[in-house]
Formats: sequence, C-alpha cells, structure tokens
Amino acid sequence: MIDGGISRLARPHRKVNVTIGELFQQTFGAPPEVVVRAPGRVNLIGEHTDYNEGFVLPAAIDRMITYAGRCRTDRRVRVYSSDFQASADFDLDDIQKDCQNTWSNYLRGVSKFLEADGHRLTGADMVFGGDVPREAGLSSSAAVEVGAAAFWNRLQGLGLDPVYVVKLARRAENQFVGVPCGIMDQFISALGRRDHALFLDCRDLTYRHVPLRAGVKIVVCNSGVKRALAQSEYEVRLEQCRAAVEKIAATGPPVKSLRDVRFLDLVAARGAMDDVLWRRAHHVVSENQRVLEAVMVLESGDLERFGELMNESHESLRDDYEVSCKELDTLVELARRQPGVLGARMTGAGFGGCTVNLVRAEAAENFARAVTRGYETALGLQAEVYVCQASDGALVSG
Ligand code: GLA
Repeated sequence: MIDGGISRLARPHRKVNVTIGELFQQTFGAPPEVVVRAPGRVNLIGEHTDYNEGFVLPAAIDRMITYAGRCRTDRRVRVYSSDFQASADFDLDDIQKDCQNTWSNYLRGVSKFLEADGHRLTGADMVFGGDVPREAGLSSSAAVEVGAAAFWNRLQGLGLDPVYVVKLARRAENQFVGVPCGIMDQFISALGRRDHALFLDCRDLTYRHVPLRAGVKIVVCNSGVKRALAQSEYEVRLEQCRAAVEKIAATGPPVKSLRDVRFLDLVAARGAMDDVLWRRAHHVVSENQRVLEAVMVLESGDLERFGELMNESHESLRDDYEVSCKELDTLVELARRQPGVLGARMTGAGFGGCTVNLVRAEAAENFARAVTRGYETALGLQAEVYVCQASDGALVSG
C-alpha cells in the first residue's frame, strides 16, 4: 500500500515555469536528493543507418527531460509525470507493463532490466518531465529512458558504465516498450557534448565528438505532423534491409549487414533485387558514404559541402528510402530558398516530425519567420521552429 503522500501525488500544485525539483518538493513534501537531465537529439546526417551497423552524426539539443527524486526505504517506486500530469506506482519486485500510464513504461523497462542485471535497487519517489516535443522525431523517449538510467545511477551510486547505460536504455525501448529502434538516440542522449556533434560507428560503438563551427546554427522545424506511420513503416524498412543483405550476399561478397556493402557489390547485385530493395540498399550504402564525408568536411570547416551532403541525404530519404512526406518536403523546399541556408533535410525516422537546417547565425531569425509563414501559406499548417544549442548528454558533466 502507498502511504499518505498519495493525495499530494495525485494532485500536485502545478505552476507554469515551476522546475521539476520544485514540483518534486510540492508533490512529496521534501527536497529531491538527486536531479538529472537527459537531452533530446537532432540527427545532422546518417539516417536509417544505425540498425544497419553504419554511421551517424547526431547532436544532443537543449531540450531536456529532467528527473528529480529521493530514495525510499522500501521497494516501491512512485512517479509523477509533469507532462502527462499523471502519477503511477509500481513494485520493484514485480515490474509489469502499464497499459494505461504508458508514459511510465520507459522507466519501468529501465528499472526491470537493471534489476535483471543484478543491480538491486531501493524504491524511490520521483518526478520527471521537460520540453522535448513528443512524437516529433527528437527522441523524447530516448531522453526519458536515458534519464531514468542516469537517475538510478546517481541516486543509488551504481557506477554504471556509459555504454552499458546506452544499451540498457535501448533494451527498455526494444524489449519492454516494444519499439524496434537502433542505438543512435540513446547514445547521443547519454554521450552528447556541448557545441559538438557525435560521430558514431554503430557497429563497434566507437565514437568521437566533432566540434560544430561558430557562426552557424542548427535550426529545427517541427512539421506538427505526428509520425503515424513511423513504427509500421520502420519495421518494413528493417525487413527490407535484411532482405537486401541476403540477396547481395547470395551474389558472392561476404556481407553481414548493409554496412559491409560497397557500391561495387551493390551494382553487381542489382539484377538479384527488385527495384524497391535496390533503392533501400542504395540509400543506406550512399548515406554511410555521406556521413564519412560530412565528418571530414565538418572537421576541415567546409560547411558548404556539409550542407550539400544534408541536401543529398534528404533526396535519398525521399526518393530511395521513401520515408519523407509532403509536409517535410515542403519545409525543406522552403528552407532552401532562404538566404544563409547551407543545407536542409528531414531528420529522424520520417513520416512527419522535424527537419534539420544548417543556417548562418545572422540569418537564423529571418529564416525562422520566413519558413513559418511559407508553411502556413503553402499547407495551412503551423510549424514550430527551434534554434538549437548542441548540449551535454546525461552522463557528461559540464
Ligand atoms: C529513429 C530510431 C533511430 C534511427 C532513426 C532513423 O529515431 O529510434 O534508432 O533508426 O529513427 O535514423
């Protein structure tokens, strides 16, 4: 049974602008022992490559999920979500999926797998929430998972290895929540760095931070379209990539994933695949090449070329991988007409969500105005625009 705190838990005094720490104090009547933050992300280039063991170049953004909480002496977890304005509770000895408070499943999954891996937790009271837009392709769920793992790590002094945290968070999403994502989102939410993008090899998980140049801004445009098709079509793409690997391998080269496929192999295997498989494979193989070049040109300061690669990535996602949509294409076309824009593409899984734009700093404000106006004129829809600051991940301090 839950103790007398439940009435406060069910009806916290929510104020605009109240911090998560203050909300915790109001809800549970004591200050939090621990406050941790995990950011959302935007992917600059390398889309639909992570589950093909390829390369990605995301950045963590200054939109965060914050957790605040305290230890309990028993094995109960009581949690309040400020975004959903709802509470849930569960017992660490019997963690089940919650079909009503689905927002709590990320935390449940992370807690369950920590326990399964032998980390015996004590209960906790906690509040979490933040400003990562939901269902917008900016990885709010990865931020919630990584935040949960970082919270337990700090609260109970678990001393977890950062890459273990990343894998744990992904496992919660894949095996508990049931969404078959790759590893990019959790990785960047945990290990992003302020003013840097992160170049990650999704096969061996080696990574390095690449400085973002001063004088350009990462501008994200939210189409406002919820990614309705995203999960089912994502699963179809996973399957098509697997099928393409099989077809290519059958023609000779010892390839285990699309990561291993060279253009030569792909062209040689063209006759063995139908047009759809060919285009899916062509996107992934070419996108991996674009990421490698993008890292090189970013490091050498050639932002024009970086922008062209972003543009090419969009074309490939639209025509070969077929994960864009009218709203994203409209935002991209509008963006490219604005002064000071170096590159524009859809970001994330697709079928709605956001575009990412590289814009010269002095042009960013006019860009935001012009694209918002143009989007409304073209489609009668409201876009939200965020000028982002690349930020530290949950496991990086200062
Ligand atoms: C989603 C998934 C990621 C990645 C992208 C596409 O964000 O969670 O793992 O596959 O789509 O690049």
